[in-house]
Amino acid sequence: MSVIPFYAEQAGECMLFEHAWQQQLPLLIKGPTGCGKTRFVEHMAARLKRPLVTVSCHDDLSAADLVGRFLIGNGSTHWSDGPLARAVRMGAICYLDEVVEARKDTTVVLHPLADDRRILPIERTGEELAAPPEFMLVISYNPGYQNLLKGLKPSTRQRFVSLSMNYPSSQVEVGIVQNEAGISEAQAKQLVQLAKALRALTEHDLEETASTRLLVSAGRLMASGLPLQLACQAAIIDALTDDLATAQALAEVVHALFGDTA
Ligand SMILES: Nc1ncnc2c1ncn2[C@@H]1O[C@H](COP(=O)(O)OP(=O)(O)O)[C@@H](O)[C@H]1O
Ligand SMILES: [Mg+2]
Repeated sequence: MSVIPFYAEQAGECMLFEHAWQQQLPLLIKGPTGCGKTRFVEHMAARLKRPLVTVSCHDDLSAADLVGRFLIGNGSTHWSDGPLARAVRMGAICYLDEVVEARKDTTVVLHPLADDRRILPIERTGEELAAPPEFMLVISYNPGYQNLLKGLKPSTRQRFVSLSMNYPSSQVEVGIVQNEAGISEAQAKQLVQLAKALRALTEHDLEETASTRLLVSAGRLMASGLPLQLACQAAIIDALTDDLATAQALAEVVHALFGDTA
């Protein structure tokens, strides 16, 4: 029996995912880095007992990378499925992380798969794969740092049911950090308190702010014996900025909350 990865629900998203899967609707998850999108998809795939195929999209990723290509080997050529074709054949959940990073030609293969045709045309072989009912397409993106040019086209996004995620409420986040890092509730509360203070800062032009992921990293350093202030410096402050003045300002927030010898 496979274990279901731990996921603390924020607000009904597990039910939404399950119903979207049952209705054969693709899902778009929006949210900042480190808020739990990947963990959520891993959790739901395990709960629904479907294999998960994850693709981290980047600006070089093309339709052929997703669908597949002919490979030459041993004097002959043979077709090799890309991750998307593999996921369709297996009836898997296919998760395209940071989909707007991918090259524009990828939308050509996503569109017929994301509407009610549910087919993946493989141009190079002439094959047309029909997605089985268990197959689900899930894409994510981070609206925070996307430039306008890179936003999702309306014709793409309207094919997806959308879920907006953000950092969890304090109470839920304390539970996550405690569980993931293996620290006490009191320690987890300190980290969440710090995150709240850092997230409220608007005067520094940080590209991103203290995410749940960073709190978990800091917590793990603490679990292994590093003092709170050093853990926060390494896992949160220096992870967020390279700018000395900004790092100083963030360190002052840590100092104001916990003093010197926490
Ligand atoms: N709701 C949650 N339940 C359990 N763990 C979480 C949750 N949210 C965040 N985490 C923790 O934060 C880490 C980063 O989350 P992740 O899913 O990778 O973020 P994202 O994909 O949004 O960038 C996870 O590895 C996990 O430790
Ligand atoms: Mg992720």
